[in-house]
Amino acid sequence: MKIAMVGSGYVGLVSGACFADFGHDVVCIDKDQSKIDRLHDGIMPIYEPGLAELVGTNVKAGRLTFTTNLAEGIAGAAAIFIAVGTPSRRGDGHADLSFVYAVAREVGETLSNDAVVVTKSTVPVGTGDEVERILRESGTSHKFSVVSNPEFLREGAAIGDFKHPDRIVIGAEDEFGREVMREVYRPLFLNQSPILFTSRRSSELIKYAGNAFLATKIMFINEMADLCEKVGADVQDVSRGIGADNRIGPKFLHAGPGYGGSCFPKDTLALLKTAEDYDSPVRIVESVVKANETRKRAMGRKVLDAIGGVETARGKKVALLGLTFKPNTDDMRDSPSIAIAMALHDAGVEVTAYDPEGMEQAAPLMPEVTMMKDPYSAIDGADAVVIVTEWDVFRALDLGRVKELAKVPLLVDLRNIYRPGDVRDAGFTYVSIGRH
Ligand code: UDX
Repeated sequence: MKIAMVGSGYVGLVSGACFADFGHDVVCIDKDQSKIDRLHDGIMPIYEPGLAELVGTNVKAGRLTFTTNLAEGIAGAAAIFIAVGTPSRRGDGHADLSFVYAVAREVGETLSNDAVVVTKSTVPVGTGDEVERILRESGTSHKFSVVSNPEFLREGAAIGDFKHPDRIVIGAEDEFGREVMREVYRPLFLNQSPILFTSRRSSELIKYAGNAFLATKIMFINEMADLCEKVGADVQDVSRGIGADNRIGPKFLHAGPGYGGSCFPKDTLALLKTAEDYDSPVRIVESVVKANETRKRAMGRKVLDAIGGVETARGKKVALLGLTFKPNTDDMRDSPSIAIAMALHDAGVEVTAYDPEGMEQAAPLMPEVTMMKDPYSAIDGADAVVIVTEWDVFRALDLGRVKELAKVPLLVDLRNIYRPGDVRDAGFTYVSIGRH
């Protein structure tokens, strides 16, 4: 089967490469000529473990190609995926659908065979209806069906998530749409991955509801962590204790500095906008969004408290380990590190940092921070070492060396990756989240 993937960003490129790996004939399309040129040269636009190899294998096998020409790319495709960005619109926080609609128009104008047009981008309820209207208005004579097929992959684990999903959600309004999508996902279907067929609107909402629920779970445990600090309890024990209940489940109960990334912040905001439009408030999500925003800067204050308070902070030096919003990505979008670095800088603290993949993207977002070539040079002379992102290299720090290099042996672990006893035995003052 031939598949066209319009938009070769995170979701488009990973999905395209995985579909090719299933044996489909995939064309990835993007307007950005330099991105397509680099892909032709085997250079990935993002850091994602295993992606370069997967792309390379499938390009070599002749199943995966790249182009900037949409009309050529979609010719003969039975399924045309729209996987372009839906960022928060400046000013009002609604999802910006201009890229999605522009692709829909171009597809309508250039369609040369019957096809299913699939929105893989995260889009608000009703977007599929609008895409359908745009296609109809284009006057195309070919049969088409508009299907919603949200993507649930996580950055850093994208290929594994795509190939072994908990479920595949397909929102289709007719049998033509369902039939083509069954064929697209046949290999996963055979793999016994559950496929859930729903209406298009339900499918669109599932993506937002899922992300909002996960964001809520994170924020819930984060607030429990704050309470643990006040009452003398241990949030990791609380997580284990509640997570063992099957109805709650153990995942997404790691307390930390707040969620960031390309999805949770923007999707929770977009869901609130939809709720507002339909006069059907989702108050839990409203609180989650507010609490998460506050939390990121509060983490800066936590560090300031640890180094002796904001009054005496001026001139001190803090080393941030990890800048990306989570490990195994170079993505800095809405990372808590940005608010933390800013809070420290505002208090007159000199900030150094090291991140295995994120420094290039981080540098323009935090010009006041000095990027270092490894964790130890960042730590040199520091009044505190702060773990912001749980990259594996930070789990295995040579604490003896850290103690020698740092001016003050103080470790602020915002990801709870160390055992308090171990760090204290190594001679450190240790501050973590929701533990003593
Ligand atoms: C998320 C969803 O998991 C995925 O299904 C969706 O398609 C896109 O959004 P992603 O943003 O890549 O994926 O990362 P994820 O691993 O879900 O983490 C998101 C944020 O939550 C990170 O900042 C992470 O540090 C934080 N988090 C996650 C916690 O603080 N605690 C947890 O227990 C889990």
